[in-house]
Amino acid sequence: MRIDILCLFPEMFASPLDQSIVKRAREQGFVDIVIHNIRDYTYDKHHTADDYPYGGGPGMVLKPEPIFEAVEAIKQEMGGSVPVILLSPQGRLFSQSVAQELALQPHLVLICGHYEGLDERVCEHLATDEISIGDYVLSGGELAALVVVDAIVRLIPGVLGSQDSASNDSHSDGLLEYPQYTRPQVYRGWSVPAVLVSGNHAEIAQWRRRQAILRTAKRRPDLLDRGNICDEERKWMLENLLNPK
Ligand code: ADE
Repeated sequence: MRIDILCLFPEMFASPLDQSIVKRAREQGFVDIVIHNIRDYTYDKHHTADDYPYGGGPGMVLKPEPIFEAVEAIKQEMGGSVPVILLSPQGRLFSQSVAQELALQPHLVLICGHYEGLDERVCEHLATDEISIGDYVLSGGELAALVVVDAIVRLIPGVLGSQDSASNDSHSDGLLEYPQYTRPQVYRGWSVPAVLVSGNHAEIAQWRRRQAILRTAKRRPDLLDRGNICDEERKWMLENLLNPK
């Protein structure tokens, strides 16, 4: 997979892309991430990437020309059509299912907005998608692009070994993840649930599924409908919500 990122602050990407799973994925050739400075596609002495808004008002607006030219240069180099995704608080909400959808693409272009916004002609005539990582406003799209890249890269087949597969992740089956424990078995008097040291794999699987349902019901009831919960599980859940142990 190849991901091109257009931004005004390329230095923001160096450390996050050079750690942990994303670093390993890049080193092993699963993903090629190329950062472009929008200012490199300007022609004036001061490399001006923004200008005053037509109609007046506060703040500056990113100019369309350098962004169009950067995307066109990438398309020319790579050939073919490519999803061009604008990161902005006005986009559709990012989620695990959007990450799964994007992880299937061989090539993505991400555009990070800044200042008060960017010229609407970029949204209308260049971007094919607009994504928000949540209902809050960041100073720019760089951190949002990093979130999107991290969530996508770990879903590329082969990036996570079977050891740390994404299939148990929160949200991957629509529910939050079940509680996890490691050694010591007793810490400050708090014991690991007995079922997890029982060696009974069927009981462990049932306990985990039920804990995932209970946790989702308590913390994110809005997600419960996605979990394909059967009648028996629903009964158990309601009993445990009413009479917590
Ligand atoms: N840029 C500024 N805020 C953002 C957000 N919430 N999501 C994506 N890009 C952004």
